Amino acid sequence: MMQSNGLYIILISVHGLIRSDNMELGRDSDTGGQIKYVVELARSLIQHPDIGRVDLLTRAVKDSRIPDVYAQPREEIAKDAYIIRLPFGPRRYLRKDVLWPHLDSFTDQALYYIRQTGLYPHIIHGHYADAGYVASRLAGLLEVPMIQTGHSLGRVKLQRLVDQGVKKEYMESHYNIRRRIEAEEITLDSASKVIASTNQEVTEQYSLYDNYQPKRMVIIPPGVELDRFYPPKGRWIKPPIEGTIDRFLKEPQKPMILAISRPDPRKNISTLIHAYGKSKSLRQLANLLIIAGNREDIATTEKGTRGVLTELLLLIDRYDLYGQIAYPKSHSSNDIPDIYRLAAKRQGVLINPALTEPFGLTLIEAAASGLPIVATRDGGPQDIIACCKNGLLIDPLDEDAMAETLIKALSDKERWRKWSKSGIIGAKKHFTWSAHVQKYVREIKKLVSKGSKRKDPSKQRKANLVTADRFVISDIDNTLLGDKEGLRNLKECIRSVSSKVSFGIATGRRIESAVQVLKKWKAPIPDVLITSVGSEIHYGPRLVKDLNWEKHIDRLWKPDAVYQVMKGLPGIIIQKDVDQRKHKISYYIDPDKSPTIREIKSYLRREHLHVNVVYSHHQYLDILPIRASKGLAVRYFALKWGLPFEHILVAGDSGNDEEMLRGNTLAIVVGNYSSELEKLRGDPHIFFAKGQYAWGITEGIHYYNFFG
Ligand code: GLC
Ligand code: MG
Repeated sequence: MMQSNGLYIILISVHGLIRSDNMELGRDSDTGGQIKYVVELARSLIQHPDIGRVDLLTRAVKDSRIPDVYAQPREEIAKDAYIIRLPFGPRRYLRKDVLWPHLDSFTDQALYYIRQTGLYPHIIHGHYADAGYVASRLAGLLEVPMIQTGHSLGRVKLQRLVDQGVKKEYMESHYNIRRRIEAEEITLDSASKVIASTNQEVTEQYSLYDNYQPKRMVIIPPGVELDRFYPPKGRWIKPPIEGTIDRFLKEPQKPMILAISRPDPRKNISTLIHAYGKSKSLRQLANLLIIAGNREDIATTEKGTRGVLTELLLLIDRYDLYGQIAYPKSHSSNDIPDIYRLAAKRQGVLINPALTEPFGLTLIEAAASGLPIVATRDGGPQDIIACCKNGLLIDPLDEDAMAETLIKALSDKERWRKWSKSGIIGAKKHFTWSAHVQKYVREIKKLVSKGSKRKDPSKQRKANLVTADRFVISDIDNTLLGDKEGLRNLKECIRSVSSKVSFGIATGRRIESAVQVLKKWKAPIPDVLITSVGSEIHYGPRLVKDLNWEKHIDRLWKPDAVYQVMKGLPGIIIQKDVDQRKHKISYYIDPDKSPTIREIKSYLRREHLHVNVVYSHHQYLDILPIRASKGLAVRYFALKWGLPFEHILVAGDSGNDEEMLRGNTLAIVVGNYSSELEKLRGDPHIFFAKGQYAWGITEGIHYYNFFG
């Protein structure tokens, strides 16, 4: 195994189009500030002497509509810092809100990648909810501390959408909002540190979460590249973009109100145009420049983007803004600094009217360029204006006040010059990447030294289990057992290839009862037994317990507190004593009388209990440590023994099998499955057998040609 010098950091940013040069910011609504943030973070981190390697993991996309570079498996950002692109789900480009079902696959690809490099990361850092989910899973499996940067938060978005009157169904179908929030809760559960950009992000945004733990949060604002963003100086040499802009304008020398953002409804460009269009004096005073990404043909762009741009064009026409507003079709990322300088030279302002603004990179870029700002009264703008003293705050929903504030900001030339100057000074003082990285490294070093006792699981191989190169792992009740003839047939099938194939079970039963029922049915004693819904792992005929797993899942497990929360909930009855395990608390549940599973999760979280809640057969409810489940146990086991996921076949029938069936292993749902698994249908890694019980398993083995 290769040894790296210094810390090895894995950054994860799943969605959008990420490349190291000439980033296509604004190309669509998923390719914006976050993309720039993660690449610059990687580039700055690797310059720190204590960091030996940085990998930025993202999605590989192969799609004729986008440049080939986004399919390239590896791209160098700087020496020892790479963008690593992993394929998962469909190959084509997809917007972030529909990537959710594929994230388990991404997790497994990332595990593969980590095994391949032979390097053990010291820190896994997720960016946004989707990567937070992936990072939680990875960090748990590898026993590595994880950190998280939210970038923007689902609960805040939800509130805004509610305020705007967006329909619930649309929030789900279009944004998958509940899934996102759930992922954020899981992330907050698992993260050792959360990096926020502003104070308000902590106190007003993260505080909306069940898992709000301000002690784990640190505020480290991102930086601006000062070598690119600087004020106009010396003799003005006309940049190429100036002509592109000025051909729209009747009086180009007027002050310029610049709005620069992705074409995303949340950026609220339309309110700005209403404000400008309605105010005679503002139109008299200044021109408007809208930079909202690049486009070829609006008619064929993605729906959200198309909506924003179409509305823009309609409003321009409605208010007859011809000659007063410029909205160039395209620009390169190298034009951006020139655009700020042009606006600064014309004594304009940057306006950021976004509905919410957790940070607002454009604001510090403008500040560094000497361009004063007018921005939404929200977390980022508040902190930035407090540091830079370079502008005014607005209510993004109040058109009239927006116009008045702009007039105010543009009219007083004396004050304008003061703002411009102090913005330049403030950006240099408070918002540089090198300051960010200093603080970052200080934080992660605390975490790494805490966790240094962790062992490298890939070094603890056991020879007997490693000889096999195929694994069949089956649930017991109603999957492996239930049909005698089917079981005999399956045994035959496995016996014929016995040296190559290893056999395991994953069950809700405790170990004693699992062994007992297997004996009763004359099933072979497996090489691995994952029992008590994944909270225990035993190996081989002698039933050697995996103590590392036990230690691994014990983190944050507070059974007494769980009992307390659950006590007295209607429709819930505790199972017998023997079924209460060290890392499993089990109930019978009557779903007609009990609170919903979602509500139960929420009660537990509010008490800061870090648990997995598993519901099956409409009658069982198991509560496990956050790191335990059948699926996580299978992955831990595979990683530990060095088994590729495609060489593992898993079979199940009910809810407690669900998350084991997802991901890159090959999965079988037997014909007699319980209805809660219906939602897995259609996943290419999951085969729904016709055969019942063990017949279904044999059918799946043939279907996948698993022994072939
Ligand atoms: C088994 C266990 C029980 C658990 C159920 C669902 O029946 O004995 O405790 O609740 O599986 O996972
Ligand atoms: Mg079962």
